[in-house]
Amino acid sequence: MFERIDPKSLDQNVFSLIGDQWMLLTAGTGEKCNTMTASWGGLGVLWGKPVATVYIRPQRYTLEFVEREEKFTLAFFGEEYRKALALCGSKSGRDIDKVKECGFTVETADGAPYFAQADLVLVCRKAYWQDMDPTHFLDGEIDGKWYPEKDYHRIFIGEIETVLKKK
Ligand SMILES: Cc1cc2nc3c(=O)[nH]c(=O)nc-3n(C[C@H](O)[C@H](O)[C@H](O)COP(=O)(O)O)c2cc1C
Repeated sequence: MFERIDPKSLDQNVFSLIGDQWMLLTAGTGEKCNTMTASWGGLGVLWGKPVATVYIRPQRYTLEFVEREEKFTLAFFGEEYRKALALCGSKSGRDIDKVKECGFTVETADGAPYFAQADLVLVCRKAYWQDMDPTHFLDGEIDGKWYPEKDYHRIFIGEIETVLKKK
């Protein structure tokens, strides 16, 4: 069972939440969705609203779902799901059914899919996107280090509409 909480009552450190715990970025419908692990992203405030920022490389299957839908979800899990998150971060939904493989139960909130096994879910409504522009890198090492294939991330900023916390 989840309860809706105010984003301001989130009490976890955002750097460990995203960077260490990792998250599943999911989009689609209750019938057909795709998910991928993400450990880069941000939570903050923009246009006077709570927002989440995610970075998706162009080759991710999940990108097609994020592009198509109005919303995406970010879900955070307990340590017992580390293997599942590693799988969702190494296999593509083009090749396997990750939801089935991980034994996840799909639920929807405000029309957006997430997994019942999560501890915390952010439902985000897409507000903005932009591709990283390599001419804007001010640190000269970033391009060569992170983008040898020139597969620059597509940035999405989503307004956090709903925060669900497991009771
Ligand atoms: C810990 C971890 C973090 C990741 N973070 C991101 C990320 O922030 N952005 C991204 O595009 N890919 C990231 N990935 C890679 C995708 O999760 C991976 O390529 C996945 O297989 C894509 O699946 P899809 O093709 O079904 O979308 C990460 C992978 C791992 C293991």
